[in-house]
Amino acid sequence: MKQIAPSLLSADFGHLADDVEMLNQSEADYLHIDVMDGHFVPNFSYGFPVIKAIRKAARKPLDIHLMINRPDDYIPRFCEEAGARIVTVHYEACTHLHRTLQLIAHYGVLKGVALNPHTPVSLLEEILPEADMVLLMSVNPGFGGQKFIGSVLQKIEKLKNEITRRGLSTMIEVDGGVGLGNCADLWKAGADILVCGNSVFASENPQETIRLLKA
Ligand code: DX5
Ligand code: ZN
Repeated sequence: MKQIAPSLLSADFGHLADDVEMLNQSEADYLHIDVMDGHFVPNFSYGFPVIKAIRKAARKPLDIHLMINRPDDYIPRFCEEAGARIVTVHYEACTHLHRTLQLIAHYGVLKGVALNPHTPVSLLEEILPEADMVLLMSVNPGFGGQKFIGSVLQKIEKLKNEITRRGLSTMIEVDGGVGLGNCADLWKAGADILVCGNSVFASENPQETIRLLKA
């Protein structure tokens, strides 16, 4: 199923509740929340007070993307206080990824594993059955509004084939530089969820853009 997760990183932080309400009334399936720690990625975004405010205003489930080192230290709070439906951690940030996913599952939250553009999908061989979702980064994480890295298309196809071959139901999410110009190729390659920041919020009619992205 084609699902869209607009990234609040591109929202107007001065009027965050208005943007969340706009998404409530759109065909968006999730609100994508990018959390950055200034270590794993060279940028900061927002933390618990802001995410709790988003949660209060949101009538769509939260898809929380942790671009942070030592995610285990904060997973309980992202699951409970922030009320995530999906929590995604980076393969590159987790020494004990299996344990980290078990921790997310302990809270009854869907477990996502994210791969940076340079990380091959073949590294997921053993962990794939443990993940509810794999997030493929199609930009180097840390900033919205970057250019899509085309080679991720082959990664989506490879991963989709592997998921099908093994009879798994793992979802594939693609994040970074996604918009109306490439969404058709991404759906065709096997994406289930597309994260869209700049392409939605910088468009003239974000709700219509979301509808067109899914069409
Ligand atoms: C980048 C974040 C993305 C970002 C996407 O590090 O993970 O979710 O907000 O923004 P766009 O769609 O503008 O590339
Ligand atoms: Zn993201």
